[in-house]
Amino acid sequence: MIRLEQLKKVVASGSEDLTILHPLDLEVPEGQFLSIVGPSGSGKSTLLGLIAGLDAPTEGSVLIDGVNLVELGEDELARLRGERIGFVFQFFHLLPSLTALENVLVPLEIFGILNAEKKSRALLDEVGLSERTHHYPSQLSGGEQQRVAIARALANDPSILLADEPTGNLDSSNGKHIIDIILGVHERRGMTIVLATHNMELARMSDVMLELKDGRIHRPEIANATATDAAPDVPAEDAQTAAAGSSGQ
Ligand SMILES: Nc1ncnc2c1ncn2[C@@H]1O[C@H](COP(=O)(O)OP(=O)(O)OP(=O)(O)O)[C@@H](O)[C@H]1O
Ligand SMILES: [Mg+2]
Repeated sequence: MIRLEQLKKVVASGSEDLTILHPLDLEVPEGQFLSIVGPSGSGKSTLLGLIAGLDAPTEGSVLIDGVNLVELGEDELARLRGERIGFVFQFFHLLPSLTALENVLVPLEIFGILNAEKKSRALLDEVGLSERTHHYPSQLSGGEQQRVAIARALANDPSILLADEPTGNLDSSNGKHIIDIILGVHERRGMTIVLATHNMELARMSDVMLELKDGRIHRPEIANATATDAAPDVPAEDAQTAAAGSSGQ
């Protein structure tokens, strides 16, 4: 379970401070698929980076299964991240000099997992890439590279999968394939998923949809709502309460 308490991010912008996330409370229960939508610059990537412990908040707490990331040292944070969190990026971030198989092996080898190669092959099989194990990223399509990145993110059986615009750099057919893989992973593994996207087709597949605007939760929406029956705008505080309330399913 992910719990954010009064999470705030301020960055220096010239001589002024710029608040890119206003204090935000949010709970994502175990197994929930939460999507975050909102205009460019609304704070989606910032929020995901804070949840992943890739970035530190200015104020507030990020609790992963009760552990506050803010209180962890660098090594403890790296271990928690490696064991419990998988991250998928818009631009894949594969290591170009390693094959698909080797890219998936890296996180397993870091943790000294037994049968790492067998496990990597099974993961590539899970994303439909068993025929591409020895291809380098440059020899793979964008969609295939993203599938390798998903396999890598799943390598250590994390309980949480974070994804920042995983279909953002793909055409619609490859995007659909990635959506299917993410939905399959959610169903089979029961993982908690938090995913930022501009792709409404993907967002509507989630259990709960949150909209960020100017660094605030703007409008909670239950997934599968169509554009015409979307919830009306509500003030940020109400939105946060509603989002927390609707997450208890
Ligand atoms: N290190 C930084 N220094 C200054 N401003 C930053 C920094 N990081 C992010 N910002 C600003 O914070 C705001 C939120 O950025 P963020 O990347 O989280 O938005 P986003 O919702 O992910 O946008 P997109 O949909 O384009 O990916 C933006 O206005 C961005 O310019
Ligand atoms: Mg972003």
